[in-house]
Amino acid sequence: MKTIKVYPLPTPLETEGLVVLVDILRATSTIVAALAEDAQLVKPVTSVEEALLYREKGYLIAGERGGLPPEGFDLGNSPREAYKMARAKVVLTTTNGTRALGFVKKAKAICAGSFLNLRAVASFARRFEEVLILCAGTEGELSLEDFLFAGKLALVLEEYVSQNDAAIVARKYAGHVEDISKEIFASHHARKLIKLGLEEDVAFCAQENIYDVVPILTPEGFVSLKGVAEE
Ligand code: MLT
Repeated sequence: MKTIKVYPLPTPLETEGLVVLVDILRATSTIVAALAEDAQLVKPVTSVEEALLYREKGYLIAGERGGLPPEGFDLGNSPREAYKMARAKVVLTTTNGTRALGFVKKAKAICAGSFLNLRAVASFARRFEEVLILCAGTEGELSLEDFLFAGKLALVLEEYVSQNDAAIVARKYAGHVEDISKEIFASHHARKLIKLGLEEDVAFCAQENIYDVVPILTPEGFVSLKGVAEE
């Protein structure tokens, strides 16, 4: 039996299957866009200090604190800047998204999901008997946009049986949402980004299936698996 679980907030977890990391605004959207734009890899790290150490190794340094690029960084955490990451090795640190990875204790594979690559992630997920969707949330609180993605992915993976209540609720919620962009714009995190002048990032992250790429986590960082959406 194929099963699916949703974790609305970072929780220590183990699986013999796949973990899909989700931080729609904006970490996983940025990782997906970076690899779609041919970045060599995206290495997630937890602190600003650690990220800056990668400068001498020739990496582009990207990320945010409070939504904005920390001092000394080359780029923020914006998927609209992903074209600047072409062919680069990128190190990325964000407040919630990269931190959530630390909660995965064991998995056969970890990938990054967003609305930008939902269909590709669904195709890749079908290789696994168990799928866990790990939402990054925002500073310990549920994020509407992550939970919505979890529900939409679970709905596409219709043959997977909900194995926890969050999966049941996420599917029900997502089943009632037709206009994803409108829903995302109503979220707390979107309003915060809009106040920072980053409305276009929110609009970018709300696009569906524009990339056929699945970022897979390796010891070096996320690397791209391309061409899986039509499998
Ligand atoms: C995060 O990881 O907290 C987010 O991606 C923050 C953001 O850039 O909006």
